[in-house]
Amino acid sequence: MSDDLLRRIHAHGSVPTHIAVIMDGNGRWAKGRALPRPLGHHAGMRAVREVIQGCLDAGVGVLSLFAFSQENWQRPAGEIDALMSLLEEYIAREVDNLREKRVGVRILGDLGRLSPSARRAVDRVMAETAGGTELALNLCISYSSRAEIARAARQLAEDAVAGRVDPAEIDEEALARRLYTAPWPDPDLLIRTSGEMRISNFLLWQLAYAELYVTPVLWPDFTRRHLFEAILEFQRRDRRFGRVSV
Ligand code: FPP
Repeated sequence: MSDDLLRRIHAHGSVPTHIAVIMDGNGRWAKGRALPRPLGHHAGMRAVREVIQGCLDAGVGVLSLFAFSQENWQRPAGEIDALMSLLEEYIAREVDNLREKRVGVRILGDLGRLSPSARRAVDRVMAETAGGTELALNLCISYSSRAEIARAARQLAEDAVAGRVDPAEIDEEALARRLYTAPWPDPDLLIRTSGEMRISNFLLWQLAYAELYVTPVLWPDFTRRHLFEAILEFQRRDRRFGRVSV
């Protein structure tokens, strides 16, 4: 079934270069089963594996996953601890597999707020997968888009004060070069699970022309097939980038 969808994707030819995902609905998935919320996040790990494999199969170049926002630091301490342990567990379990599949992992966000052991885990996965060129996997952790843009503006101001940048030459490209996402093209497609129609402070600058795809499927239930359905819907869209159709 999903292989049939994959054939249709390849027959169309145009695959999004960069997919961004807001992985939402873990809490509702757990609640629906009368389970504690952390078990919903745990179940969400399987869906992370599914989308990574789906992106490799479809030939997507960059996958950015919103795993933990700066606002999430306001959740109960027990849930934060569970999410951080899960991150460490995910890295310990998956690092060899990611390296073998040539997935290069980067962590985008304010890493200074991570615990020393979570910090060691993310440094390890970035170092051990550094040569991966099949898929760039950006895990957005302790990430907030407004904070990312403010950080870029601060860097530009510092460069201007130090005489390294002429304020008259500051343009969109100069700012984009100072975002965490500088090495990659903007997302072509944003997928949000669990039905909420929000961007939630995720990649606000970079999503300017992304196609939005919202599915009611809760993140732990999201599979490779759901990813392929989103890509097929993307292929039906008419992207005009503010121009008219040709
Ligand atoms: C949103 O669901 C999800 C998160 C805050 C965490 C996402 C984390 C994972 C999918 C875990 C695995 C990922 C990695 C990379 C280790 P929610 O809790 O806001 O759900 P709700 O809106 O239903 O309450």
